[in-house]
Parts: sequence; C-alpha cells; structure tokens
Amino acid sequence: MIEQVRHLTARMGKNNSPTIESYRDDGGYETAMKALAMEPEEVIEVVKASGLRGRGGAGFPTGLKWTFLPKEREKTYLCVNADESEPGTFKDRLILDFDPHLLLEGILITCHALKSDHAFIYIRGEFCRPYRRLRDAVREAYDAGLFGDNVMGTGRTLHCTIHRGGGAYICGEETALLNSIEGKKGQPRIKPPFPTNHGLFGKSTVINNVETLANVPLILRDGAEEFRKYGTEKSPGTRLFGVSGHVNRPGVYEFPHGIRLIDLIEDACGGVRDGNALKAVIPGGSSVPILTADEARELILCFDACMAAGTMLGSAGVIVMDETTCMVKALDRLTHFYGHESCGQCTPCREGSGWIAEIVSKIASGSGTPADLDKLVDLGRQISGNTICVFSDAVSMPVTSFTTKFRSEFEDHVNGGVCVAKKTTAATA
Ligand SMILES: Cc1cc2nc3c(=O)[nH]c(=O)nc-3n(C[C@H](O)[C@H](O)[C@H](O)COP(=O)(O)O)c2cc1C
Ligand code: SF4
Repeated sequence: MIEQVRHLTARMGKNNSPTIESYRDDGGYETAMKALAMEPEEVIEVVKASGLRGRGGAGFPTGLKWTFLPKEREKTYLCVNADESEPGTFKDRLILDFDPHLLLEGILITCHALKSDHAFIYIRGEFCRPYRRLRDAVREAYDAGLFGDNVMGTGRTLHCTIHRGGGAYICGEETALLNSIEGKKGQPRIKPPFPTNHGLFGKSTVINNVETLANVPLILRDGAEEFRKYGTEKSPGTRLFGVSGHVNRPGVYEFPHGIRLIDLIEDACGGVRDGNALKAVIPGGSSVPILTADEARELILCFDACMAAGTMLGSAGVIVMDETTCMVKALDRLTHFYGHESCGQCTPCREGSGWIAEIVSKIASGSGTPADLDKLVDLGRQISGNTICVFSDAVSMPVTSFTTKFRSEFEDHVNGGVCVAKKTTAATA
C-alpha cells in the first residue's frame, strides 16, 4: 500500500489536537518565534524558494503573490479563504477542525512577512464545528499573547477576525469574499485593480487559502529545500487530496504531488466500490473537466500534468464515478448547483447557468430532444469568457467535457429516453 506522507496531517488523530496546549507540546509556535526574528523580506524569500503554489484552485505561486504588494502602502490585510464550498472539496475543514493552530501559526508568520497587522478568516457559514474550533483557537492565541497588541512580546500588533459566510459559493472567489467582509453583496469585482493594490476596504490585501497558509510554518521550520524534496519540480510539496464518490475508503489523504491518480484510487482508497469498473473521475473539484477511466489511469496528480491532460488539479477534490453512474444525472447535480450559485452580475453567466440547469434537468428526466442537446453544447461553449469572474468557466468546463466525452449517453437520453448506465429508462435513473 502506498504510504501517506503526513506533514500537514501529522497531528491529526491525536487527542485534543485542536488545543493550544497540544499544539505547543508538539513544538507549535516555535517556528513563528524564529520567523518573527527574521526580516519580512527573508521570510518571503524562503517561501518563494520553496515553490509553494496556492491550494485554493489556481495554483498561483504564493511567495510571488506576496511580492505584488506595493512597496509604499498605507495598510495591509491578509484574508484567509476558508469558504470551501465547491462540490467535492473538503480538505480545508480538516485543518480547521483538527489543527486550527497550524493555520494560526501560518497566519502569524505570513502577516509578519506582509507587514500586516490584521488578518480576516472568511469561513464557510455552514461549517459549525470547524467554526467553533477555530473561534476557540483564536481565543487561546489571544490569551497566550500570540495575537493582540504585543505579539509574543515583540511590541508588534496583530489582530485576527473571523467572518462567517452567509451560504454563497461565489464568496469563495477572492474579490466577492472581500465585498462580503465589507458588508456588501458577495459579488466579484472587476480586476484590475487587483487586491494587492486595492483590496479589503480599499487597502493592499493578500488572499490565501487555508491549506496554502498551513504549509508556511512547515516551510519555515524545515526549510525550502526539505519542502521541495516532496512533489515535483513545478508542484512541490504534499497535497491534501479529498477523495469522494464510489471508492471503498473515501476521505482526505496527504500525498506528495506527482502520485498516480490510479494509485490514489486503487491503493489508498481501497479501489472502486463493489468491485465495479471505474467510469470517470473529476480530479480537482466540480469545476474542472471530467476524465474518462482511460484518461484517469494515465494521470499524474500535479498542476502541469493535469493541464497537459486537458483538466486541472484545482482544489484536489477527486470525485470518483463507477460504471453505475448515469453521466446525465451526474451533470444534472452539478448544473443545478451552478444554476443556483451564479451571482447574477453578468448576463451570459446569470442566464446561461440557469438555462443550462433547466436543459440538463429536462434531458435527465427523459423529456429532452436532440435540439435540447445541441442547445446545451452551444451554451456550454458560449457562457465562458466576457464575464467578471471565472465562475462561468466553472459552469462551462463540466458541461463541455461531460457532453463531449460521454456524448452517447446524452444522445441515448434524447433519443428514446434510455439510460444506458443503469439499463433503466431515463425517467427512473
Ligand atoms: C467561484 C470561485 C470559488 C472559489 N472558491 C474558493 C474557496 O472556497 N476557497 C479558496 O481557497 N479559493 C477559492 N477560489 C479561488 C480564490 O479566488 C483565490 O484564488 C484563492 O483563495 C487564492 O488563494 P491561494 O493562492 O492560496 O490558492 C474560488 C474561485 C472562484 C472563481
Ligand atoms: S461570472 Fe457569474 S458569478 Fe462571476 S461575476 Fe459574473 S455573474 Fe457573477
């Protein structure tokens, strides 16, 4: 069996792992002490040298993003993206739930690097236990003098505010997140200006994902070279893969970038359920193009290999589907979600995602026509681009990839209503 490499998850499973006492027993906050004695620019250099790339979806180099802050700036905010609302993505909640101080130490070090005195953590509204654990951890950190007006006795100030989301997936998009914290409608902003120049309350702001920041203490503790020993040259480090769907052991697994997707499924996750054949895999959360079983068997899990295979590593939320899956029904689930979550600012996205959801639902119910299928394919192509944010691509990519790679199933549904996957009529699928 392939062994997990447990860096981010090293403390998970321990009694009381979310408490500061347990975190300190394991050497927690010693790295922050070391990092606070370094120059902020030195900290940024170490993170740059590590090659750490964002774990929120786009994989942007973290250290490089930090250098985009203007040299002269009035104030800097760090916003932590803990919105995690994408179907199939459930790895940040593990950190929030079982090792919140790892994230807080990452925030402490990052704020030092960015010369920021205020961090906001934007947490998904539906997260209840993760929220309580995070809130308790922040209180413990204040009580221990890690946050407040005299951080670790250094005379520096760092405040940490938790902001709970109201239930909108789009607030995970970084500029919608900023608007939401400001008390405005959670809708994305037009870029430029970029948040590093004009972000939260008009000030310079860096937005990073929870898992991204949880890596920072480990990089500062062990050094950039050690971090690079795991993963691939362009995708260094380990990754939390959240595997869901038709496997025997779904869950969050930590492996270096570069492992084979099929090993993750067959070995770590105990294979496809009931001995069924693998049919399809979405490798990076619901917004990325789906792969056929043959494509999935060839895939290496790193940013570049996923791009080369015509998909994306995204949030590393791996959704596995076996031979019993009706691909039309599966797409119906996804497009229903996206149709509901468009923020409505841009006409192609607002109208397109709604129409797509309706058409897929019609086809799935067995009452679609060949003309509906043509319209669906056309809408899938037209909706992306020319919109304020990439949500429209997140709708387009599943639609286009499902209807291209599993075309015959869609055709079966519109020509006689037969669902091949379950050998039943589409209406009962
Ligand atoms: C529709 C949409 C939803 C998103 N949701 C999340 C999310 O829940 N969490 C997250 O970290 N990034 C999410 N992102 C990506 C963020 O906009 C941003 O790129 C990320 O937080 C940057 O952090 P990173 O560089 O550490 O990855 C989303 C993007 C889009 C377009
Ligand atoms: S693309 Fe969609 S979600 Fe993004 S801003 Fe436009 S309407 Fe809103």
